[in-house]
Amino acid sequence: MLGNFSYHNATKIYFGEDSLNYLSEELPKYGKNIVLIYGGGSIKKNGVYESVVAILKANGKNIVEDGGVMPNPTAEKLREGVRIAKAAKADLLLAVGGGSCCDYAKAVSVSVHCDDDPWEKYFDRFEEPDCEIVPVGCVLTMAGTGSEMNGGSVITNRATKQKVGHVFGENVMPKFSILNPRFTMSLPKRQMVAGVYDIFNHICEQYFSGEDDNVSDDLAEALMRSVIRNSLVAVENPTDYEARSNIMWAATWALNTLLSRGKTTDWMVHMLGQAAGAYTDATHGMTLAAVSLPYYRHILPYGLAKFKRFAIEVWDICAEGKTDEEIANAGLLAMENWMRKIGVAQHLSELGATEEMIEGIADATFILDGGYKVLDRPEVVQILKESL
Ligand code: NZQ
Ligand code: ZN
Repeated sequence: MLGNFSYHNATKIYFGEDSLNYLSEELPKYGKNIVLIYGGGSIKKNGVYESVVAILKANGKNIVEDGGVMPNPTAEKLREGVRIAKAAKADLLLAVGGGSCCDYAKAVSVSVHCDDDPWEKYFDRFEEPDCEIVPVGCVLTMAGTGSEMNGGSVITNRATKQKVGHVFGENVMPKFSILNPRFTMSLPKRQMVAGVYDIFNHICEQYFSGEDDNVSDDLAEALMRSVIRNSLVAVENPTDYEARSNIMWAATWALNTLLSRGKTTDWMVHMLGQAAGAYTDATHGMTLAAVSLPYYRHILPYGLAKFKRFAIEVWDICAEGKTDEEIANAGLLAMENWMRKIGVAQHLSELGATEEMIEGIADATFILDGGYKVLDRPEVVQILKESL
């Protein structure tokens, strides 16, 4: 049964090959001072930077650049971003890049007019913003996180080895996001498939709870089937526009707050993956891939009916002559085969994790309820060891 909920999504999306043209429609809504946030330089190589800057100039904006946002943006970089945006008297933070740039822009947006340390306020004490929020816009160049249409922001504190997400309210979500699938085509294949697995896992995290008839689960299954089908096409032919555009839009819907309405959610794969990420700085989607199967095999007995449904509805497993356990396990095996085919990580050791890190990663893992089994610490350690 669906629980009670309210639903509103505050982000306007412009999607498609011509979508960047709509930046000119958005810009007049904001003042003159734009902080242009970007990563390590991919946008300068693929021409997106040049196109965005030309539009900003044509609209008479002052541009202050804040580049060098790293994957898994750090608390230290966030503090620098706050200083830059403050000095620029930012009217709009325009993030041009992947989820890291978009997450970072949101964290800066709630900190520019706030005297507290941003890490401590939002990622340690989990306070809500109580100061003026600078609007964020996004030009997305990587499909995966869903950050373009949600309030999530994940920041890594390298000093304390913590990677922590804060889900802000709709006043922090991007006011607009521009999604041009062509902009994602310069992604290295490894990043593309890491994004694909991130999308798939966002859906799983919201799917593996409850056993009732629920429209969210039907939507989730349709999205999962689409991600599987289109990822196989994109791996073969990364310039297939149909596949890349479907992946990009599926990423947005996988985590734009719709699927979780009326449901509890799990998020334990993300908690395990993020803790591993805090220790290794590995690519987000790869950390999820490495811990997923040991985790799902561990909780399968507690959510058997749903894992059976997953096998049949998502992986087309023939149920005839099989026990429920056999059907459910066949589904996870099909998922494993797909993961191997697209080429995501199978083990945490591939990502730089070692046996010696396991206890620390377990300490950094937030244990959440909402799934089929609330883990205890020995189970976390066991899953991490099996993931190694
Ligand atoms: O920095 P540049 O040079 O731009 O290169 C990036 C980066 O190295 C590159 N890239 C992006 N677009 C490209 C490109 N390279 C070539 N062509 C392009 N078009 O890809 C690398 C990864 O980029 P990044 O933004 O880090 O990836 P992603 O979008 O996966 O974001 C990861 C971050 O988002 C957080 C993760 O934890 C991680 O910190 N997440 C945010 C969520 C949210 N807001 O809801 C949820 C997710 O579960 C996730 O936790
Ligand atoms: Zn994710």
